[in-house]
Amino acid sequence: MIFVTGGAGFIGSNFVLDWLAQSDEGIVNVDKLTYAGNLDNLASLRGDQRHRFVRGDICDGGALLALLEQHRPRAIVHFAAESHVDRSIHGPAEFIATNVNGTFALLEAARAYWNGLTGEEESGFRFVHISTDEVYGTLGDNDAPFTETTAYAPNSPYSASKAASDHLVRAYFHTYGLPTVTTNCSNNYGPWQFPEKLIPLVMANALAGKPLPIYGDGGQIRDWLYVSDHCAAVRRALEAGRPGQVYNVGGWNEMKNIDVVRALCDILDQVAPKAGGSYAKQITFVPDRPGHDRRYAVDASKIERELGWKPIETFETGIRKTVQWYLDHQDWVADVQSGAYLSWVEQNYANREGN
Ligand code: NAD
Ligand code: DAU
Repeated sequence: MIFVTGGAGFIGSNFVLDWLAQSDEGIVNVDKLTYAGNLDNLASLRGDQRHRFVRGDICDGGALLALLEQHRPRAIVHFAAESHVDRSIHGPAEFIATNVNGTFALLEAARAYWNGLTGEEESGFRFVHISTDEVYGTLGDNDAPFTETTAYAPNSPYSASKAASDHLVRAYFHTYGLPTVTTNCSNNYGPWQFPEKLIPLVMANALAGKPLPIYGDGGQIRDWLYVSDHCAAVRRALEAGRPGQVYNVGGWNEMKNIDVVRALCDILDQVAPKAGGSYAKQITFVPDRPGHDRRYAVDASKIERELGWKPIETFETGIRKTVQWYLDHQDWVADVQSGAYLSWVEQNYANREGN
């Protein structure tokens, strides 16, 4: 079996569902169930013996080692993290605790477990670390996309904490020989994404008749990847990634934020038209995110060349599926917009009156 951390979050739950749709190899899924973790995402697995959920904190090294020794996985796939840049600006401490100290605790537990393996169990073991393109910092309009050798230059507490975790993973390969593989991926979107991130937030606000907040001038560029494509890349990295290597993962799809939001509004106008005209009328420019990176772009040619992975979905196909998913899962959206969500919206947007 494999050992997954953060498998009740957005990407982790997509990964668990995709994995068990394609394989009978079991999963132990360790997740703290922070505000971002949600077992409803995994409701279709209730009663499925292949999925064992354990509520746990990756900072608890002793508990992690006990779980590893109990379940004896052939691999660890590490998604658990605090993942939202805006939250890292308001409260960086949790990001250091989970992303840095938690990854360290997990590496230590993995090292102790792996040291006890022999033969093929030892040589076949993998620690796959899921990271982000944000560790590379920001690009100018004419700069080449990030490659695996681009120097790290993280600019937010979130990206700095992810960069620190990447460095620890690298060090555990070089120092101890732990067979690690790191993936650095661009912006994901798709089912089960918590509505604090741009695409699900805009969907939720659009349908609720609320402003669609665009930070700054909306000219920031992100590369967008449909989440199931990311999950496939992680599976390939686990199957065939070379220990010690890093693979950038991206959709070859750079877009300005304002164009992403307009595209969403266009699709909503088609599939859920409302009286009074286009959803685009709700677009509202608000004060910028502090330290906002201007442009990310990912060169994903290494993973295509070495592991044969490339995205299947285009932005056009992926965003249509995503819009339809959110329309079909309004109950899920309503459930996650709990009291804690409302206080986050108040904290992040109260002093961002529209321009
Ligand atoms: P998410 O915030 O939706 O989910 C994170 C999950 O980790 C949640 O289920 C949460 O409960 C769990 N968690 C948090 N702290 C924990 C702890 N201390 N112990 C155990 N579990 C804990 O995040 P996501 O968007 O699914 O991102 C998953 C991973 O992918 C992260 O490492 C993130 O940095 C990386 N990533 C995300 C994106 C993206 O666009 N979302 C892109 C590239 C990389
Ligand atoms: O690049 C990969 C990263 O993508 C991941 O590592 C992070 O975990 C993930 O959260 C995401 O980070 P971003 O900061 O790019 O995602 P977010 O959805 O928060 O914002 C996307 C862009 O939209 C960004 O330029 C900020 C902008 N934005 C965001 C929100 C929430 C707005 O203009 N308005 C908003 O209300």
